[in-house]
Amino acid sequence: MTEITIDSDRLYRSIEELGAVGSYRDDVAGCDGVRRVALTDEDASGRRQVVAWMREAGLDVSVDAIGNVFASRSGREPELAPVMVGSHIDSVPTGGAFDGALGVLGGLEIVRALAAADVMTRRPIVVAFFTEEEGCRFGTDMLGSAVATGRIALDAAYEITDAAGKSVGGELERIGFRGDEPVGQRRPHAFVECHIEQGPVLAHGGEQVGVVTGVQGISWFELSLTGHSAHAGTTPTSFRKDAGLCAARINVALRDLVDSGVHGDLRATMGVHRPHPGVVNVVPGRCVATVDLRNPDDAAMAAAERDFRALLEERARADGVDIDCRQTARTAMVPFDDRVQDVIEESATARGYSHRRILSGAGHDAQEWARVCPTAMIFVPGEHDGISHNPRELSTPAQCARGVQVQCDTVVMLAEEG
Ligand code: GLV
Ligand code: MN
Ligand code: MN
Repeated sequence: MTEITIDSDRLYRSIEELGAVGSYRDDVAGCDGVRRVALTDEDASGRRQVVAWMREAGLDVSVDAIGNVFASRSGREPELAPVMVGSHIDSVPTGGAFDGALGVLGGLEIVRALAAADVMTRRPIVVAFFTEEEGCRFGTDMLGSAVATGRIALDAAYEITDAAGKSVGGELERIGFRGDEPVGQRRPHAFVECHIEQGPVLAHGGEQVGVVTGVQGISWFELSLTGHSAHAGTTPTSFRKDAGLCAARINVALRDLVDSGVHGDLRATMGVHRPHPGVVNVVPGRCVATVDLRNPDDAAMAAAERDFRALLEERARADGVDIDCRQTARTAMVPFDDRVQDVIEESATARGYSHRRILSGAGHDAQEWARVCPTAMIFVPGEHDGISHNPRELSTPAQCARGVQVQCDTVVMLAEEG
């Protein structure tokens, strides 16, 4: 195998430069964060920056109908299926510089390093980034990769709207990233994504690299609760139908469900709780809330969803509130390919990096590609207990370099396969 050494400084410089696109001051976190929400002007600027770097690296760039960007480097046998690497560059509204960006710019660094070493792999290599991985604007995570791999139909994806009523199709058009490549045609030889862990496990275990075994199931709901708005001072408690209180009770009941342990490693989060009108002396007549359930066990997840729906019915009856529940995203537990995990592990061992197998708590584009080709991921640890979806998200140059080096070795190995 040819030894390719990635340039750690160049990788980190690219992460910092992309992190400046959509940067904002976050007074709660006390530092600058990244706000590059999917298909906004900031996302468009980030996209243009990365595409410019891809072209400078000599890659052939193509954009598909859902705005996914694929940049190809040819191989000695260009007709063979490529090895694909990639992730996303959209962020949550209160994000950091590493979530997604590491996987895209790591991919770019791999092809830059191959070019610097004048090495042509047998198979082509494709560096990609995918639309709306975060799902916090249009409500459906991994949207671009789900469309590219056939889980979600393109027409249905175009129709999805954000809170302001803007559609995915319209916003893609507006920012100039509704491309002409048809979706659903790419069938890579393998897909390998490098990502920050976004949790504390590797840092606490002292491991330098994570070999990701799969991604746990994810189930998202949007709740619209309707009660009666009323004056806060004059309305006796027995007359109230408080939609905000009802959502809060659902949140507490969900936590009790988690703590009961009956659904295994269930996690539940009410990330949005928006009472209307949100005024000090008005009983909220309406409330919008979201629920995020995660579980590594599909049967336990299905049982948790049944209990959650039963809980909604019970609260609606008890609180006199009408509850409309819409599922916005749902993915099963996705196991990654054993052989690709082995190649990653061998690469980490060969470099002398400590490592462990780890299940991903977060959703990733790789879980969609796992449906169409052998896929696995590499995690790198993060500082501050791996805090993520937060401006304080931070992985050091050495942490990032180890992950991308392992990814590079893995990709070169897979790209030499017949
Ligand atoms: C993606 O960031 C997720 O919510 O898991
Ligand atoms: Mn991510
Ligand atoms: Mn994320």
